[in-house]
Amino acid sequence: MPSAKAFIQANTRLLKVEGLDLGGAPMRLWLADAITPIWSATEADLERQSPDPPFWAFAWAGGQAAARCVLARPEIVRGRRVLDIACGSGMIAVAAAHAGAATVWANDIDPVCEAAVSLNAQANNVSIDWLGGDLLEALAPQVDVILAGDIFYQKQMAERFLAWLGEATARGIEVYVGDPGRAYAPDGGARPLAEYEIATTLDLEGVMHRLARVWML
Ligand SMILES: C[S@@+](CC[C@H](N)C(=O)[O-])C[C@H]1O[C@@H](n2cnc3c(N)ncnc32)[C@H](O)[C@@H]1O
Repeated sequence: MPSAKAFIQANTRLLKVEGLDLGGAPMRLWLADAITPIWSATEADLERQSPDPPFWAFAWAGGQAAARCVLARPEIVRGRRVLDIACGSGMIAVAAAHAGAATVWANDIDPVCEAAVSLNAQANNVSIDWLGGDLLEALAPQVDVILAGDIFYQKQMAERFLAWLGEATARGIEVYVGDPGRAYAPDGGARPLAEYEIATTLDLEGVMHRLARVWML
């Protein structure tokens, strides 16, 4: 079985993410062109049976919005301890590290994300620390800011995240979430902090663009 890093480099390409400018250079991430081949390869080569696709191989619309927001408003993270929860590729963590966060942790329940985050941090010359496991089983760690992108696509998962993030905000942690109108996103009511038209693909989303908003919970 290849290492997770070797698998990622063999099955994805280092691609620019439109709209994510890191001070003159575009953010580049190890991304797949289409979902079915990388999903099949993940099951075959990494011997992983998962009902979920390899999320880490795509820059999801909600995450792109959160990353853009952090780059446009670096004061959200500058000098602060930041957690990118449900990080996938680690795109938001890369943005936070570039924007001047003091420390950035990335977490995901998919262990392959550790390798993806490490490769993506290296590709963009930033430092990100990995936190493994399901952090939702305990209180949120002591950070100043939690960032999340595209976490409201399954009912039970969305409810768990909302409860966990709500508890974090009650303890004074600032929480920002990017979402492109997924089925289980909260109604809000409040005005979004930012909104962006995000380019996506027919293969991934069935549409070419999604309007994604960033909310402070
Ligand atoms: C649609 S992807 C978004 C990834 C990334 N934030 C982005 O926007 O590109 C959702 C991610 O949530 C992760 N996830 C699901 N449940 C989780 C949990 N309890 N804790 C951490 N991550 C979780 C999945 O593994 C997946 O990587």
